[in-house]
Amino acid sequence: MIDTHMHITMEEFDNDRERIVLEFEEIGMKCAIEVGYDIESSERASLFAQEHEKVYAAVGVHPHDAEKVKDGWLERLSALLHQSKVVALGEVGLDYYRDLSPRTVQKEVFKEQLKLAQTLNIPLIFHVRDAYEDMRKIVKDYDVRGVIHSFNGSEEDAKEFVKMGFYIGVGGIATYKKNVALREIISHLPLERILTETDCPYLSPQPVRGKRNEPKNVRFTIEMLSQLFNKSFAEIESQTEKNAKNLFGICS
Ligand code: NI
Repeated sequence: MIDTHMHITMEEFDNDRERIVLEFEEIGMKCAIEVGYDIESSERASLFAQEHEKVYAAVGVHPHDAEKVKDGWLERLSALLHQSKVVALGEVGLDYYRDLSPRTVQKEVFKEQLKLAQTLNIPLIFHVRDAYEDMRKIVKDYDVRGVIHSFNGSEEDAKEFVKMGFYIGVGGIATYKKNVALREIISHLPLERILTETDCPYLSPQPVRGKRNEPKNVRFTIEMLSQLFNKSFAEIESQTEKNAKNLFGICS
């Protein structure tokens, strides 16, 4: 299994992040991607990846943090993207649900990063909330690939994203009891476009909901997918690993 979206350099893991990574081998975690959300966390993610064989990094500025960027941020980001084991630009996008940065600023920072991803030919990890349509309008102007992290949209959205060549990130939200409609939408997706993720410490899947999330909980998402697609755990695991390798070129 692969966790394509974790945040274990956050302080929630100050007491046990080394143990968590040490256990990867034992629990069958092939590798995982530590995802940054501003320049500082991106630098931490990159450093953490250099220090741990099974960890890769994504670096980028989250829409929540778009307003806080300082002069020279794009140069710092670009430098990070050239480091080894940095395999994606993210998480980036638009968040109209919380609107923590003004939408005009979110769009501006998003576009700068899309341009950079296109220039460097590096995949993106998209964080998009209540803004799928605007996001597609913007992204259509760039030649980029990537994953819609923690997808939570309509059947139409899913179809559009698949048509655009994107992968769909599936994690805790899709395991919640009440999210029957979302599971129905996911069940219609091509399995070769699904990536597994946790977004830990957030979004713990159903059986451990309410607790701090951890990379190992990605297995609950694989279990849910195996029921949904009527395939064995091993089949889902192997296909989703292949998908993550295809998009990010990781875990070789
Ligand atoms: Ni995240």
